[in-house]
Amino acid sequence: MLKLATDRLYLRPPQMDDAAAIAAALSRYEVAKDMAHVPHPYSLEDAQAWLERQPQISPPYGQKFAIFTHEDQFCGMTGFTEREELPSLGYYMHPDFWGQGLMTEANWALIKWLFNGPGAPKITSGVFDYNIASLKVQQKLGFQTVGQSQVQSLAQNKEFAHIDTELTKDAFENAAPTLATLRKNT
Ligand SMILES: CC(C)(COP(=O)(O)OP(=O)(O)OC[C@H]1O[C@@H](n2cnc3c(N)ncnc32)[C@H](O)[C@@H]1OP(=O)(O)O)[C@@H](O)C(=O)NCCC(=O)NCCS
Repeated sequence: MLKLATDRLYLRPPQMDDAAAIAAALSRYEVAKDMAHVPHPYSLEDAQAWLERQPQISPPYGQKFAIFTHEDQFCGMTGFTEREELPSLGYYMHPDFWGQGLMTEANWALIKWLFNGPGAPKITSGVFDYNIASLKVQQKLGFQTVGQSQVQSLAQNKEFAHIDTELTKDAFENAAPTLATLRKNT
């Protein structure tokens, strides 16, 4: 099985028995509100339906990874959705794990896997303009702001200004060549 590892985490493709942990994270309004496509309330059935769709979504530009501590505690999810023939990055952490640099660490492993393995000309992403924590995660990894758009938050049922970002392999390697460098920048 595809598995990525860092000092504090491991990542593997999501499985049906992750449904309860996914629902526990995404049912938290403070998580759902900052994502474009997550409804609120979010149920176990929503997580199961999402997991059922995953095998039909082709890797690598659609590859998702569930994130765990080495003690097998589910922390969150990261991965790509194919948009305009490019991988678009999206992610969340359960609030119990916020503020420890874990999302930056997990995304570093994911991006290193994509650029050094399957490859991609660039990765696209973005944040609602008020989401400073997520913007910081992306900036530490080398993402650059490339534009502004308006994006709907399903949970908030409202449109927000959105900062559009992109990452090339060169920018990633300059910003975060190793996890140790990344920690120094944190
Ligand atoms: C955004 C999110 C993924 C960050 O996860 P995390 O594991 O806490 O992230 P990290 O600890 O790796 O980095 C967060 C950075 O933002 C900073 N930060 C956190 N809250 C902040 C705030 N309110 N204002 C400014 N900076 C903030 C942290 O200090 C850290 O920066 P530092 O390393 O320079 O100190 C998490 O908060 C989350 O899941 N939010 C809800 C879903 C979401 O926003 N997903 C992304 C959609 S684009």
